[in-house]
Amino acid sequence: MRKIIIAIDGPAGSGKSTTARLVAESLGYTYLDTGAMYRAITLAMLNLGIDPSDENGAVRAARECRLSLENANGNSRVILNEVDVTDSIRSEEVTKYVSLVSSYKGVREIMVEKQREIGAHKGCVVDGRDIGTVVFPDADLKIYMVADIMERARRRQEELSIRGEDVSTAQVVDELNERDTKDSTRVASPLKKAPDAIEIDTTNMSIEEQVAKVLSFADEIMVTNGMVN
Ligand code: DC
Repeated sequence: MRKIIIAIDGPAGSGKSTTARLVAESLGYTYLDTGAMYRAITLAMLNLGIDPSDENGAVRAARECRLSLENANGNSRVILNEVDVTDSIRSEEVTKYVSLVSSYKGVREIMVEKQREIGAHKGCVVDGRDIGTVVFPDADLKIYMVADIMERARRRQEELSIRGEDVSTAQVVDELNERDTKDSTRVASPLKKAPDAIEIDTTNMSIEEQVAKVLSFADEIMVTNGMVN
């Protein structure tokens, strides 16, 4: 009964993935990490030795690879051609090329179709860059997360350090700025706030606070729409 679509967009490191995953877990919803899908296509290309600047090659890789996202016990796994690539799609190499690969219109069309299929039954939290604007423009709740660049860099650095990749703060800031520029200036579905999205600045918020905030907005919408438990 209480099934809505929650779209969470924002730049890298704004806190959207962790928040989206925990909100989905709390509501018993499906969590859809669309960034992971673009990362998986990027990895597929690198594995096949296709140059990331080869747009036709990217579309071919997106069309031919077998990609699935599995949700189990609050754990989401990304499976590419029967191989679990959940960790390898977070590497520095994939991160370096993913903005380029995700800028290709043909790649986006294939991914958006998959995303709409997954969200067709509602009851999902979807995070990305174009969810509230393009993928689910009629989403019941749209959130746009932002955070200060230095805080976003700190979070990204922590994530990399857990993976055993030590990168300087200056380099992380440069990479984030470069990715922000590419993601928000591309022609196809750029990162932007939907006019009806609620902006949340997570710079000084804990994960628990972010989750509680999104859940309270979701609850408000369900009550307004007469959805009962
Ligand atoms: O959320 P992330 O950092 O894992 O996303 C990786 C890249 O994928 C991001 O730099 C831009 C792209 N992306 C996109 O173009 N559209 C989405 N809906 C999600 C991600």
